[in-house]
Amino acid sequence: MVRLHVNVDHIATLRQARREAFPDPVEWALRAERAGAQGITCHLRKDRRHMQDADVVALRRALRTLLNLECSLDDEMVAIARKSGAEAFCLVPESRAEITTEGGLDVRAEAQRVARVTRELAAEGGAVSLFIDADREQIVAAADSGAPFIELHTGCYANAQGDARKRELERLVTGTAFARECGLRVNAGHGLDYRNVAPVAGIAGVEELNIGFAIVAHSLFVGVDAAIREMLAAMASGSSAR
Ligand code: PXP
Repeated sequence: MVRLHVNVDHIATLRQARREAFPDPVEWALRAERAGAQGITCHLRKDRRHMQDADVVALRRALRTLLNLECSLDDEMVAIARKSGAEAFCLVPESRAEITTEGGLDVRAEAQRVARVTRELAAEGGAVSLFIDADREQIVAAADSGAPFIELHTGCYANAQGDARKRELERLVTGTAFARECGLRVNAGHGLDYRNVAPVAGIAGVEELNIGFAIVAHSLFVGVDAAIREMLAAMASGSSAR
């Protein structure tokens, strides 16, 4: 069945709103693991708007599952990622003004840099993934880069309605199949929530979903355990339809 990796960035967003020591993303992540999350993801941004360097260190020390560290191609961030001990890395585009990651990495345009960073991170023993849109050209470029994984950007699917959403889902299905033909392993994420997750969890070939905001927000009302268990149940309803 598709695995759930939970992104804890927005626990840190809440903490940074007051520059307090709580809520602690590590404590929240440990509860998420106990409730069934199979991995924890965080994004150390250049502007440190949510996760801080010390959070990455503390997460890696405390987690029992695995840490997936998202980072940009920026030299400073790659150097930190290399020392982090994370088991997985996801390379993402980053711009200062965005509210959240917008669009996938342009692997075609940055082919050499992506290939170099992929080699550097792989040398640290981590599984490298490239966060891309489900476009054929980007998938081919990702396969050429030497990264074993891609994470398909599900934001367009999540934001679309009606027939447009069906088309976006089809794009993810086709993109996943094509990526597998190219020898890539496929994860997916961004904008997924309790109502839209099942069809994505049901895509044959998708191994892991990275979900953050919806789970963090729901946990405010029902607690961490229930928020994770409800997401696992929503994913299972899609997986069983495979
Ligand atoms: N995957 C990637 C690469 C991301 O950058 C993010 C957002 O940080 C997510 C998944 C999770 O998105 P969301 O918080 O909307 O679930």
